[in-house]
Amino acid sequence: MGKSKVLVVGATGYIGRRIVKASLAQGHTTYVLQRPEIGLDIEKLQMLLSFKKEGAILVEGSFSDHKGLVDAVKKVDVVICTMSGVHFRSHNILLQLKLVEAIKEAGNVKRFLPSEFGMDPSRMEHALEPGNETFDQKMVIRRAIEDANVPFTYVIANCFGGYFAGNLSQFATLVPPRVKVTLYGDGNVKAIFMDEDDVATYTIKTIDDPRTLNKTLYVAPPENILSQRQLVEKWEKLIGRQLEKTSISGQDILAMLKGTDDIGAKAGLGHFYHIFYEGCLTNFDIKEEGHEEASKLYPDVNYTRMEQYLKIYV
Ligand SMILES: NC(=O)c1ccc[n+]([C@@H]2O[C@H](COP(=O)([O-])OP(=O)(O)OC[C@H]3O[C@@H](n4cnc5c(N)ncnc54)[C@H](OP(=O)(O)O)[C@@H]3O)[C@@H](O)[C@H]2O)c1
Repeated sequence: MGKSKVLVVGATGYIGRRIVKASLAQGHTTYVLQRPEIGLDIEKLQMLLSFKKEGAILVEGSFSDHKGLVDAVKKVDVVICTMSGVHFRSHNILLQLKLVEAIKEAGNVKRFLPSEFGMDPSRMEHALEPGNETFDQKMVIRRAIEDANVPFTYVIANCFGGYFAGNLSQFATLVPPRVKVTLYGDGNVKAIFMDEDDVATYTIKTIDDPRTLNKTLYVAPPENILSQRQLVEKWEKLIGRQLEKTSISGQDILAMLKGTDDIGAKAGLGHFYHIFYEGCLTNFDIKEEGHEEASKLYPDVNYTRMEQYLKIYV
């Protein structure tokens, strides 16, 4: 069996661009959806052209043109969607319903990976408002996929390092503190931190793997399952200095959530609460739930450990 041909939708995005790179690196014929709506966005166009330079094939298509989408989907075996989630940058994840329709009509797709790449929405029914919206919408897409009998894999990527590790999981900054750090509670709840390029590598590894057909792939390599305190210790070692530590309680986080009108901040605080107080990324057994873990399936991937990831910030 040859390598599957891949279409990436949402390719110029934060995770999408890495998935295009990984797909090309692993030798897949890689198509990238070029939406006419990007108009005069020169940065996006330049990025698309850079994909083309690296060997990707640009294919025009719009979410407002069903036939065009079907034609694009017909060219490939695997579709990976990496569209934005709600609140943080945009509100488009439900547009994927149109993609599911196109995949259903085209009838040739062997695997669809919808835009997931975060926490497992099927475990977040209890999530706080308004952050729950992203999980609810991802579940709407899952139901549409399963109702249409489209073969799928859901990739749970846990915490992207750029958002959660580089800043030692501090709010409102993307760089690590050098003097003081705030710990969530005792700082001992385990989370999972990932290099985004590794998420893309595992994502492409899985598309032709029968073991992950109609399953959830959790990207949770053992050495990257760390408490916030352990992450801070790695940073302290790199800079050769101890940070002053203060702690914030779960109740304080909930009060902050209530006290702000900024929807993005509210959603973010809710997600932090679930991750760093409830331990929602690590409080279950992947195998017992009948799913797969990426580093176990693909031991040949030498995933980036967080001491390595943090080095660039020194
Ligand atoms: N685990 C984590 O820590 C973490 C962090 C952030 C995001 N995520 C998840 O990762 C996934 C992708 O998020 P991201 O941050 O990579 O997304 P992003 O960079 O905000 O956007 C991805 C792409 O969505 C497409 N898009 C935006 N508006 C659109 C519209 N109106 N119509 C059609 N396409 C549109 C664009 O693609 P084109 O212009 O190229 O077509 C854009 O580049 C989401 O499911 C999100 O929840 C996880």
